Amino acid sequence: MNSTKTKPLIDWCDEYLIGVEELDYEHRDLINRLNELHEQLAHHDEKAMIEDCLGEIHVRVEAHFALEEHFMLDNNFQNYTHHKKEHDDFLAVIVDLIENFRTNPELRYGDELEEQLQHWIVNHILTSDQELRTLNK
Ligand SMILES: [Fe+2]
Ligand SMILES: [Fe+2]
Repeated sequence: MNSTKTKPLIDWCDEYLIGVEELDYEHRDLINRLNELHEQLAHHDEKAMIEDCLGEIHVRVEAHFALEEHFMLDNNFQNYTHHKKEHDDFLAVIVDLIENFRTNPELRYGDELEEQLQHWIVNHILTSDQELRTLNK
């Protein structure tokens, strides 16, 4: 309905790179998904569309974590258990956020929702995921 593009929630920057091609590719993809969610929330798109977008984020985050955990195990990453716990905790948070969104009809909740997703993902990429840089040969 509204064709005006909203300013992206997150601009990709090279600071996010960890130097592992497939993981960097997926990080970029996750940021694109968050920007898409932001766009939908900004335009007050249909609740069902936003739910689909959230579902897609959930699926992609889950697949990304699996790939990253494989990479850590293959490279004998010593902080694996801690890193995996961060992933598992965040997946539980996403499930809760989606459930809350489903039961809360107010789209205003979207601001808080995208803020939490953005904060965790960007923060994780800039801290924990950066430790994987040292594994890259
Ligand atoms: Fe990670
Ligand atoms: Fe990651």
